[in-house]
Amino acid sequence: MKRMTGTAKNNHLISRWRCPSNIALVKYWGKHDFQKPMNPSLSFVLQNAFTETSVELHKDGDQKLEFFFEGVVSDFGERIEKYLDHLTTRLPWINKYNFRIYSRNSFPHSAGIASSASSFGALALCLTEIDFTFLGKDINSQGFWLMASDLSRIGSGSSCRSMYPGFALWGKTHLFESSGDEYAIPLTEGFQPVFSGLRDAILLVDSGIKEVSSSAGHQLMNDHIFQHSRIAQAHENINELYLALLTGNQKKFIEVVESEALSLHAMMMTSNPWFILMKPNSLEIINRIRRFREKTSIPLCFTMDAGPNIHLLYFSENESDVKAFIERELLAFCKNGHWIDDRIGNGPERITDGQ
Ligand code: DP6
Repeated sequence: MKRMTGTAKNNHLISRWRCPSNIALVKYWGKHDFQKPMNPSLSFVLQNAFTETSVELHKDGDQKLEFFFEGVVSDFGERIEKYLDHLTTRLPWINKYNFRIYSRNSFPHSAGIASSASSFGALALCLTEIDFTFLGKDINSQGFWLMASDLSRIGSGSSCRSMYPGFALWGKTHLFESSGDEYAIPLTEGFQPVFSGLRDAILLVDSGIKEVSSSAGHQLMNDHIFQHSRIAQAHENINELYLALLTGNQKKFIEVVESEALSLHAMMMTSNPWFILMKPNSLEIINRIRRFREKTSIPLCFTMDAGPNIHLLYFSENESDVKAFIERELLAFCKNGHWIDDRIGNGPERITDGQ
């Protein structure tokens, strides 16, 4: 069979995309309605942490979905089957075909990087390309990215922010008329160049099983005692962070980013039931980052997802000092001395034949 990317032939159609993971600076925590965020969030995409997915539609046999993760049949297939089922009203052609999906990550599963963002991002890009191909629509249009973002959100909320180069914003805010709860929008205009040199050293404190799934965690915000103040804080932090990005205010950037990471963990510590997802080594790293900043005045800060790993954010001009600091002071607190060297990235890429 000849592989035809994005083209229907002999009832076979293949689409292949690479989609990055992203790290939130203002955190999404809590949902309303179906997969809509309680508050707006703002993130940037990574360069080296990505998923590559190929979706092939065919009419051979009667197995609806074959899903291979890194060459082997994977449990994640069940989540994808539910996802495809859910999308049939929007993409009626799903009912007419069987699916063969291959996926691989650029990072090891144990790396503690949220793989659902890049996985659903890549899958949604493939589905959107196929839909555009069926409808004869141009994939080089803004509508393509908005639809891919919307479809990926249905699979995993944070993945909808992985669709653009650099920074993205998801959730309705009065700052941007074009913002919405269904999709993320790109944020590129007017940011100071220092932020295009943003680096992310992912310090792997623990790569074990998650103590609480993100969907269970989000649910705990439904009747959280601090729900209203958290929503207000996130809106305020979006405003402040956006202003810091426009004006090049690194001090404000650091203040907002760390406050968001700690608020996310504070929400988990004060929900019912509560969760403490930081480990002693996470705290040690946080304290050392703060001391190093105070001593050297180098602008660096930390953020975290709903887990114990630390994302140490810094700027390219301080690369050698920060890397020396990581090696000298932080690696001792990482599991097996393991960390990942990443940076702000260029967004998704369509994989063409020969790549
Ligand atoms: C803490 O996107 O994983 O990383 O929508 O249920 O799939 P689901 O949740 P998910 O939540 C991620 C939350 C977070 C913060 C963030 O990325 O904004």
